[in-house]
Amino acid sequence: MASIQIHPCLLFLVLVLCPVLLAHAKTAPAPAAPAPAAATADAPSPVAESLSLEHILEKGMQYKTFLRMLKDTQVGAQVVNQLQDSITGLTVMAPTDNAFNSLKPGTLNKLTQQQQSELIMYHILPKYYSFVTFQTTSNPVPTQATSEEGTCTVNITSGSNQANISTGVIDTTISNTLYADFPLAVYSVDKVLLSPDLFGPKSAKSHSATPTESNAKKNGTSALAPSSESEDDTNADTKSTSGASTLKGVKWVSLVGLLFMLILNLL
Ligand SMILES: *[C@@H]1O[C@H](CO)[C@@H](O)[C@H](O)[C@H]1NC(C)=O
Ligand SMILES: *[C@@H]1O[C@H](CO)[C@@H](O)[C@H](O)[C@H]1NC(C)=O
Ligand SMILES: *[C@@H]1O[C@H](CO)[C@@H](O)[C@H](O)[C@H]1NC(C)=O
Repeated sequence: MASIQIHPCLLFLVLVLCPVLLAHAKTAPAPAAPAPAAATADAPSPVAESLSLEHILEKGMQYKTFLRMLKDTQVGAQVVNQLQDSITGLTVMAPTDNAFNSLKPGTLNKLTQQQQSELIMYHILPKYYSFVTFQTTSNPVPTQATSEEGTCTVNITSGSNQANISTGVIDTTISNTLYADFPLAVYSVDKVLLSPDLFGPKSAKSHSATPTESNAKKNGTSALAPSSESEDDTNADTKSTSGASTLKGVKWVSLVGLLFMLILNLL
């Protein structure tokens, strides 16, 4: 026993931090608790490691198509980057494999690569929404997808234990919470969220002719060009800052580890 003087300040620190850490340990899902300790040892990016959209979806077993599209469109990589230094967090609506299977055959193949990215980004909201915050959210809710008309939105209506999501083309219910701990919420949806921009009544005109890039560039104010530019911008941004945020993550993790050791020693 360290009967020798426990500095009052230290005691105070422990007394204050104990409930905080315990509360945190309680709310965090079981596998997340040991992760930080392991991360300090060998992982270069603890945040991405302990909070992986890929793992969450793989564990769910029925999101293989969505996972593949996250990879193919590289939106998944963007999510990893965004999570590392996001202040607002992210919410992902993950359609099940059944949802993709019940689309009309060829629906996805008809889309260009850029349109596939847009479709996947339409399933990501640039903010963390817990089930409770859905109830206080005013419509329309912005997504990460942008079209010529600007940011694509969804409408979310929610009751005490149910939330519906409407795109204008489809309505579906948020059936299941796969993960919800700031900064990331992942919900399961039974339908692919078809955006009005790609699948609405107007889209037949604007997309059947598959307007070429050069066509769009002729009009200086066209939204096509800025939208792809802003994508590049965010890419560059997240790339350049990801190093710093990794450092921040390491510092935070080791601080927590240190405090745990301190407390264990004192108990
Ligand atoms: C969600 O949609 C279902 C089926 O359309 C409906 O019965 C239910 O009342 C809706 N719930 C909310 C909160 O809007
Ligand atoms: C979404 O909600 C807004 C505001 O309530 C409404 O004006 C709009 O028509 C809704 N759109 C859809 C597709 O339900
Ligand atoms: C570009 O401008 C022309 C003529 O002003 C217009 O007909 C066309 O729809 C515009 N294209 C886009 C992509 O905005």
